[in-house]
Amino acid sequence: MYTRHADDGLLLTPRNLNARWARLYNAPVVVDTPQSQPCLIFPAKISAMKRVLVTGGSRGIGRAIAVAAQRSGASVIVGSRTRPDGLSGIEHVTLDVSDPTSVAAAAAAVGPVDVLVNAAGVAVDGLLVRASDADIRRTFDTNLVGAVTTTRAFLKGMLARRSGAVLLVSSVAGIRGSAGQSVYSASKAGLFGFSASLAREVASRGIRVNTIAPGFIETDMTAGLSEARRAEIIERIPLGRFGTSEEVAAMALFLMDAEYITGQTFVVDGGLSSAA
Ligand SMILES: NC(=O)c1ccc[n+]([C@@H]2O[C@H](COP(=O)([O-])OP(=O)(O)OC[C@H]3O[C@@H](n4cnc5c(N)ncnc54)[C@H](OP(=O)(O)O)[C@@H]3O)[C@@H](O)[C@H]2O)c1
Repeated sequence: MYTRHADDGLLLTPRNLNARWARLYNAPVVVDTPQSQPCLIFPAKISAMKRVLVTGGSRGIGRAIAVAAQRSGASVIVGSRTRPDGLSGIEHVTLDVSDPTSVAAAAAAVGPVDVLVNAAGVAVDGLLVRASDADIRRTFDTNLVGAVTTTRAFLKGMLARRSGAVLLVSSVAGIRGSAGQSVYSASKAGLFGFSASLAREVASRGIRVNTIAPGFIETDMTAGLSEARRAEIIERIPLGRFGTSEEVAAMALFLMDAEYITGQTFVVDGGLSSAA
């Protein structure tokens, strides 16, 4: 086993291939085969060597995060109730985060991951007085309880390996509130307390927990908004448009590699929450 600093990177044998080396030298990594033929070159990203599970990765923001992670070289699994089309090179596991039995089965099938992205979510919008018990329960069971139980399931492997990163996809609605979204906002606000507390609980084990709070993003979730409502919202966004899933994915990718950041919330909303 040996390592060598090359001008253009770090030469590693399979035995010493370790994310820590790449982190220490912040360099492209050349992996040597037993026959001493360099066979792989990774970019200087820790995410290149990660196994990443994205819940809600079949559509929208989760899907964009899955694709971005795969492009950076990670091995990616998408967890959702329906199997997505057109995600070549990305694994799928059937997962209903609102069902603890499904979460346990998915955790057993997938095994340990380096990064868990909790992006699965539902929005049942409407005035509180018209919200059904079933809609309230489904919103909390998916957005809050689902993220908590899924995190618990995959945290066990991270604790054993003393490293990992958990990302929660919350919403600016959970920070600022939004008329017609009281139930959704409450479920998303719960993620802030959860992630801030869990970050303190597991930091000493080398595990980071961060939250992304998107504003209005172009996905199926916002596709049903009327033109009038869209115009009204865009009027309040300083950058004058809805965001894209890829713009949220860029933040997620950054956080997968941000080794000195934990317990934080990152808003991706075109300035919406900063506006008066
Ligand atoms: N779009 C926005 O403007 C916006 C803003 C702020 C925050 N967010 C949050 O960002 C996340 C992604 O939203 P999006 O806009 O990308 O929504 P989307 O396009 O509607 O996609 C939702 C994803 O969640 C999955 N999902 C829903 N219920 C699930 C369950 N019980 N178990 C597993 N997966 C489930 C869906 O897959 P299946 O249906 O196949 O299960 C799908 O992949 C959500 O948490 C949402 O609250 C979105």
